[in-house]
Amino acid sequence: MRIQVTSGQLAQIRGGAPVFAAFEGEQKPERLLPASSARDKALGKLIAESGFRGALNEATLLPHRGKWVLVVGLGKFKDLSLERVRQFAGTAAKAARARGQKAINLPVLSDRVLGSSAIVAQALTEGVLLGLYRYDQLKKIPKHEQSRKVESVTLVTERGGDVAPAKRAVEKGTILAGSVSLARDLINGPANIVTPTYLANAARAIAREYRLSCKVTPFAQLKRQGFGGIVGVAQGSSQPAQFIVMEYKPSRAKATFAFCGKGITFDSGGISIKPSLKMELMKYDMSGAAAVLGIMRASAALKLPYHVVGIIAATENLPSGTAQKPGDVMKTLSGKTVEVINTDAEGRLVLSDCLHYAKRFKADAVVDLATLTGACVVALGAEAIGLMTKDERLAARLNQSGKTTYERVWRLPLWDEYGAQIKSDVADLKNVTDTGQAGTITAAKFLEEFAEGLPWAHLDIAGTAWADRDKPYVPRGAVGIGVRLLINLMENWSSAKTNGR
Ligand code: BES
Ligand code: MN
Ligand code: ZN
Repeated sequence: MRIQVTSGQLAQIRGGAPVFAAFEGEQKPERLLPASSARDKALGKLIAESGFRGALNEATLLPHRGKWVLVVGLGKFKDLSLERVRQFAGTAAKAARARGQKAINLPVLSDRVLGSSAIVAQALTEGVLLGLYRYDQLKKIPKHEQSRKVESVTLVTERGGDVAPAKRAVEKGTILAGSVSLARDLINGPANIVTPTYLANAARAIAREYRLSCKVTPFAQLKRQGFGGIVGVAQGSSQPAQFIVMEYKPSRAKATFAFCGKGITFDSGGISIKPSLKMELMKYDMSGAAAVLGIMRASAALKLPYHVVGIIAATENLPSGTAQKPGDVMKTLSGKTVEVINTDAEGRLVLSDCLHYAKRFKADAVVDLATLTGACVVALGAEAIGLMTKDERLAARLNQSGKTTYERVWRLPLWDEYGAQIKSDVADLKNVTDTGQAGTITAAKFLEEFAEGLPWAHLDIAGTAWADRDKPYVPRGAVGIGVRLLINLMENWSSAKTNGR
């Protein structure tokens, strides 16, 4: 699919259905964007008489002056935001597809709350491409549905001078959406296909295409090299674990970032086996790893001026005769020993080795992404990523990036009192607490033991990585969360007001 940019009046652009944005008002739709269309009285009347109200993500296709026009609701004018622009684009693209429109023209909406036309063009691009995303590799699509495809999207700016910056923004949005879609494909992929080896091969393919370095250490060597956290989880599976390290290193890098991803390609719980209800969802327990792969692709494609390191522990968590057992003690890469009380608390075990490994890069920020705890789903649901860090500056930056990308984070405390509960009688640590209280925080306290001295933040994406229902630019299934958030964090690193490290 192609996204072009041109300037002019939306209604006058040839070919493709124009998409008008309508706000919800006291009467019928209160007003229309772009401003030029507001003067079209006949159009206003047509929309009002159709019963269209302008509610957020309401969409209708109407015949007007011999062609089709699409009208999409933006909700109340006072609530206009960049996120709503993203949703507007996703809703418009999906409505066009469902109604057999092959080409649409989207207005690059302008309003003070939205920022520059480039910012808006990027949001529109993200919304269109992420909204149209589908995971349909593994099923037969009927012919009539296959032919329903949006082939061309044109963004229309009011001023000619905005075309060039908008074109660059479209490129950027396309890279981001492509990287999010890559993550989504890996997450939606079933665990019999997306194995640890499959993830390693995906990393190699990205490395080849974008000229990154990629080093994969398979299970046998991890055992010899003392990666006890990963080995303990992996030893029950016949799929060999893979430890993946990717690096994007431009010359004269301004800072270094390390991202650690939990890559459990299937989490059955191991010997502490999970109930079977909804267990099939545990293919998404590698969403952190998928995000890291997306981040690596996007960093290179965007040519960010930073050294970016991606560290992934990929393994299954399965019960078998060789699986680790409750009570087993493993020696992690850091040298610390862990008593494995519950084999289902495996994410923190594999991440402990990743975080320790990250120390060698002397990064300016280390962020891990993990579908770590069911408790995070209970606490924050699908709307917020759980953020835990003691680094105030990093917290502020992540919070800002969360607002911008709408991959919002919500901070939970990492107070030391929470850590007292993970001391073991026989080892340095145990992997779960007796009380089961504050499960998201105590998991982070465990990780903190392996992140000593690092400018580190932990993101629990258990609730946000999988969508149970369709959203305007997130179809049900894998969200691909974390990619846009952390690329935004890096993009704003040097300019942010909170800078000073
Ligand atoms: N992958 C799960 C966490 C999870 C649960 C993610 C539900 C998404 C949805 C993790 O490995 C796990 O099993 N955590 C346990 C920890 C417990 C044993 C302390 C949990 O949350 O139940
Ligand atoms: Mn688990
Ligand atoms: Zn897990």
